[in-house]
Amino acid sequence: MDCHDLYERCVQSPVHLVPLLRAIHGREPRVLGEDFAGTAALSCRWVQDIPDGRAIAVDLDAGALARHGRDDRIERIVADVRAGAGEVDVLFVGNFSIGYMHTRGELVSYLRHARSRLHPGGVFVCDTYGGESSFLTGHVHRYHNLPDGRRVRYTWEQRFANPLTGMVTDVLHFRVEKGGVIEDEFPEAFVYEWRLWAVPELCDAMTDAGFARTEVFQKLPDAEDDEGNIYIEPVRDPEELEDSFIVLVAARG
Ligand SMILES: C[S@@+](CC[C@H](N)C(=O)[O-])C[C@H]1O[C@@H](n2cnc3c(N)ncnc32)[C@H](O)[C@@H]1O
Repeated sequence: MDCHDLYERCVQSPVHLVPLLRAIHGREPRVLGEDFAGTAALSCRWVQDIPDGRAIAVDLDAGALARHGRDDRIERIVADVRAGAGEVDVLFVGNFSIGYMHTRGELVSYLRHARSRLHPGGVFVCDTYGGESSFLTGHVHRYHNLPDGRRVRYTWEQRFANPLTGMVTDVLHFRVEKGGVIEDEFPEAFVYEWRLWAVPELCDAMTDAGFARTEVFQKLPDAEDDEGNIYIEPVRDPEELEDSFIVLVAARG
């Protein structure tokens, strides 16, 4: 197992995200754009779940993008997201990667580009975190059991946070253990220097980029029917949010 395997297991959950994005789109989206795609794990799940689905995954890291091999339904583009091309129904930016846009000018310019890639009725979605702990430093551990009996300790560390500039440094560490014995360690597996955009800052930038409507969603659906279709409503009352929260911010029109 390497850092990318551990990241996919501990950080990502495409199996939950694909239905959520379909519900946020609201009709029957076929084409996914995954910007800052990393290993394109979301795109892989999208084409698995949607029989006539396609995906366009964009990342600067050719090695990460190539990881899951070729699939005719996934176009993998090694490029800066600001140059990424191809029209899509849902354009997703995950795991706080919108924070790679460090200035408001960069953010609005990227969002304008993102909007230009949407089919009519399309939606742009990114995530961010906020609330009382968002500018605190420290770390949390989470444990994931592997099918072979090993256990992964995943550590999310916020090493640096400056509420005056909005800049944060977030670091991911992994440790693989078996029966209490450490088998492998990946300290500082990923280090991110991000601007942590607040929800209203993102909504304002989306509006300035030309989007007609912005909405905020929790990362969990409101309801699921017998066929596994999920339903989700935007958050309207701040009381619905935890003291520290992760939300999806969507823009359309
Ligand atoms: C936090 S990872 C996100 C992986 C995945 N999207 C997810 O949801 O977990 C950030 C990725 O963004 C890529 N990246 C950073 N800046 C970029 C840029 N300007 N254009 C394209 N990719 C970029 C990095 O190579 C890295 O793979």
